[in-house]
Amino acid sequence: MDVDKGHPVSTPILPVAAGKQQAKKVILHRTNVWKLSIAAIVLLAVSQWTLIQSRVDLKTSVRAPVHADQILDKCRLLNVRPGPPEDFSLREHSDRFVPGTKATLIKNAKIWTGKLNGLEVLQGDVLLQNGLIKGVGIIDKAALTSIRAEDLVEVDANGAWVSPGIVDMHSHLAVTSLPLLGGSQDGNSFKGPVLPWLRALDGLNTRDDAYRLSISGGVTTALVLPGSANAIGGQGILIKLRPTAERSPTSMLLENPYSTNTSEYDPHRAFRFRQMKHACGENPDRVYSGTRMDTTWAFRQAYNKAREIKIAQDEYCAKALEGDWTGLAGQFPEDYQWEALVDVLRGRVKVHNHCYESVDLDDMVRITNEFQFSIAAFHHAHETYLVPETLKKAHGHPPAIALFATNARYKRESYRGSEFAPRILANNSLQSDHPVLDSRFLLYEAQQAHYYGLDANLALLSVTGTPAQIIGQDHRVGFIEKGYDGDLVLWDSHPLALGATPQEVWIDGIPQITTPHVHKKPEQLQHVPKTPNFDEEVAKTLQYNGLPPLLPDRSDKDTVVFTNVSEVLTREMHKIHALFTPQASPGVVVVQGGVVVCAGSDTACDSFMRQEARHIDLQGGSISPGLMSFGSPLGLQEIQAEADTADGYVLDPLLADVPDIIGGDRAVIHAIDGLQFTTRDALLAYRSGVTGGITAPKASGFLAGVSTAFSTSALHSLEKGAIIQKDVALHVSVFHGGFPSVSTQVATLRRLLKGHGKGALGHWFAKVSGGKVPLVIDVHNADTIASLLRLKKEIEEERDVQLKFVFSGATEAHLLAKEIAEAGAGVILAPSRPFPLAWEQRRMRVAAIPLPGPPLSEQNSVAVLRAENVTVALGVSEAWQARNTRFDVGWAALEAGGSFNKHEAIALATVNLEKLLGMHKCHDDLVATVGGNLFDLSSKVAAIISPRRGLVDIL
Ligand SMILES: *[C@@H]1O[C@H](CO)[C@@H](O)[C@H](O)[C@H]1NC(C)=O
Ligand SMILES: *[C@@H]1O[C@H](CO)[C@@H](O)[C@H](O)[C@H]1NC(C)=O
Ligand SMILES: *[C@@H]1O[C@H](CO)[C@@H](O)[C@H](O)[C@H]1NC(C)=O
Ligand SMILES: *[C@@H]1O[C@H](CO)[C@@H](O)[C@H](O)[C@H]1NC(C)=O
Repeated sequence: MDVDKGHPVSTPILPVAAGKQQAKKVILHRTNVWKLSIAAIVLLAVSQWTLIQSRVDLKTSVRAPVHADQILDKCRLLNVRPGPPEDFSLREHSDRFVPGTKATLIKNAKIWTGKLNGLEVLQGDVLLQNGLIKGVGIIDKAALTSIRAEDLVEVDANGAWVSPGIVDMHSHLAVTSLPLLGGSQDGNSFKGPVLPWLRALDGLNTRDDAYRLSISGGVTTALVLPGSANAIGGQGILIKLRPTAERSPTSMLLENPYSTNTSEYDPHRAFRFRQMKHACGENPDRVYSGTRMDTTWAFRQAYNKAREIKIAQDEYCAKALEGDWTGLAGQFPEDYQWEALVDVLRGRVKVHNHCYESVDLDDMVRITNEFQFSIAAFHHAHETYLVPETLKKAHGHPPAIALFATNARYKRESYRGSEFAPRILANNSLQSDHPVLDSRFLLYEAQQAHYYGLDANLALLSVTGTPAQIIGQDHRVGFIEKGYDGDLVLWDSHPLALGATPQEVWIDGIPQITTPHVHKKPEQLQHVPKTPNFDEEVAKTLQYNGLPPLLPDRSDKDTVVFTNVSEVLTREMHKIHALFTPQASPGVVVVQGGVVVCAGSDTACDSFMRQEARHIDLQGGSISPGLMSFGSPLGLQEIQAEADTADGYVLDPLLADVPDIIGGDRAVIHAIDGLQFTTRDALLAYRSGVTGGITAPKASGFLAGVSTAFSTSALHSLEKGAIIQKDVALHVSVFHGGFPSVSTQVATLRRLLKGHGKGALGHWFAKVSGGKVPLVIDVHNADTIASLLRLKKEIEEERDVQLKFVFSGATEAHLLAKEIAEAGAGVILAPSRPFPLAWEQRRMRVAAIPLPGPPLSEQNSVAVLRAENVTVALGVSEAWQARNTRFDVGWAALEAGGSFNKHEAIALATVNLEKLLGMHKCHDDLVATVGGNLFDLSSKVAAIISPRRGLVDIL
């Protein structure tokens, strides 16, 4: 580059003196920004001054470019660090304050502030004013008296817990809007592997149904990220979830980093952090049909480009700021497409890296060192707990980690995912990946992490303060502290207790739930659950590189004696029945050959006690029926996304020609033929008290086939008791959005039910229309359910026989509770807590009958259906969820606010399921839990008693 040649004629020539002055000003400015000590300023100023002096002496005049001032301004800003200005904590108003919002005094609360590493709990009040927290604990009298009575709302917390608003640092809320429709998928671009210039803000929809639902779970702030289809997928954006008067995406932003001329910091004092998505491993590989090597090269190529620009800028500015324009052609070296990635190298962007396996983590750590930048957090990060030394080697600082609690094994990269990872990593964040998990229940992730051993203070921090730190917002959200944003949640129990539900949520000091429905929770839920000891499991997880053996140990003694048992529940004739309940003193249960031979007091069972036996102290725990899992491909796959590990999909006669060799459109597929045993999901379910599974073949469209019921711990299908019932029910699904139409699907059912089917299919439909076998119809939409009820009646009138219809999924079934009851049909809710993922699931909140559950509605679907005497059961959709059935059931009962008892809750995943599916073979396994009952976050499954298989498994 040559200054003299390339320059416009009009370029002013700076006199030497002016050049000196300019340089001096620059030096002062830079040192100001760098916040150096006075001594350093003097030193630097002097030395640079000398340097400039000597250089200027060599030349008598220097041409500066036309926009020299602007360029120098850019140069000065290159090294400004993002973060709040120093006086940020002195602010009186939030930049997000909505004028007219009244101040709120929350009185008499137990305040978990998040401070002191999450150990501080204050008893007292919180004052919200001007969108900020103005006082915590004991409120300054003066602060209160300065507020006019009519401008102050008082809320009596009655001793309930208050926490900071929940911060979700991995969400696709609003870029993948619910309900999902073809046009609402704005989260991924497929235009190339490297797209740092894309902004999630540009796809941030305001119509997502999930905002309100997530707020009702206490979520106040989210980092909305682009998806993982690209190595570099674009820039994420921070939002507060509340609706704004302006109704625009921009008005939802928290610390908008882009120049929009609203609420900006003065850039000469401070910048705002930007956030950027990176992804390694399978996702970008698959989208661009490359390999790990290709993706890693894509990163190198991109960062090399950014590094070249950065070096050019730094060299340019080093000279320009010294007033030496020699060799600097007019243009400041920059490229709009790459500026965000250059900013990563300048440490001004929080990099959020979707990255699972050791190989990928290692690749990224090497890349950070090669290009000298830091990763804010590895997300998903299922193998991070196995490679702590690798993480420490990352440039700058070890990346933080964002995890799921128990969601794993959905793809190869998540196969070593462990429920103990949050405990092993300790200081981590939990993520929703919404809508992968419903962010409304992000707190449940913390509850589970706590259950599996993460300390309570860190578990609560993992969804509040820690993510706030990671995204660079801990100066205003994630903690309860004077001067912080008025984002709070008042809970109905301790936040780590199962089913904790907000009584109210404030964002920027504004209450978000207009008419909260609150059930009074039992006293025991007002405390941190005393969780079980999993030390041995943790040690094994590490010893076996994340794949500890999961097969249970069979008891070597024929007689097993359970002591300190507080309660024994069994199933009898489709009812849960108490064999004994807590008396003055806990009892014993003696099992021989897998059969309970005595249950009662020590003395009553004395004769058995004297035999050689294995003794298990349940510490006040209980024995209750083994649960059944329904609705997922449990037992048909090891890793969901890996075809080689799964049974696969059945061919659908409505979508394609089914080959003659299997019977064409007369074929019926039986799940039992595809069963796999000892899958990790099945064994983990077993270890969580789910001793049986009912699984249908995986449908690709309308027809699934015949389900089977199996034991989750058997070694193979030929083992004694491995199959509970060979054939259970016939399964179909009727959904919108597929091909052909819903009406065609119903017409097909009509024809088959009227006896027009042939071959095996005709045979099975004859059983259905003879009322002998249940027809399970996977359906969510209330209108479709209504059509199916009409069809049922039509066939019944024709044949004078009652058909067994079961609606599974059934998110909108509550709208027809009465009609379903009258028709004698049953319902299996899956998922058990509604989520408007698809359009046909969205009416979980029709104005007249809103049923998302508390705090948005008084009742949940289970309670409403039960009130009409519909037989209801709960199911899941993915195999990893089977293990959590015990908590789903307990939670459903809590949401129903005590409208049904413990027996009825257990029935939701046992006898009701068996009754609905017409199971005639007995599933009589029992689960012994130590330290509490099956639903308690304080209990752990200690043993499984199986009369059918004649054994006791010790876990
Ligand atoms: C924002 O726009 C207003 C009106 O156009 C202008 O007066 C103000 O200086 C702008 N602020 C910034 C920071 O650019
Ligand atoms: C926990 O992690 C956050 C985010 O990485 C970090 O800012 C904080 O200092 C860590 N806290 C502790 C106690 O290590
Ligand atoms: C039974 O277990 C409970 C809960 O751990 C304990 O408080 C009690 O002392 C135990 N009773 C006996 C007799 O061991
Ligand atoms: C449901 O069944 C109970 C017990 O049989 C009965 O008392 C009640 O009236 C029934 N409710 C409805 C809505 O039919």
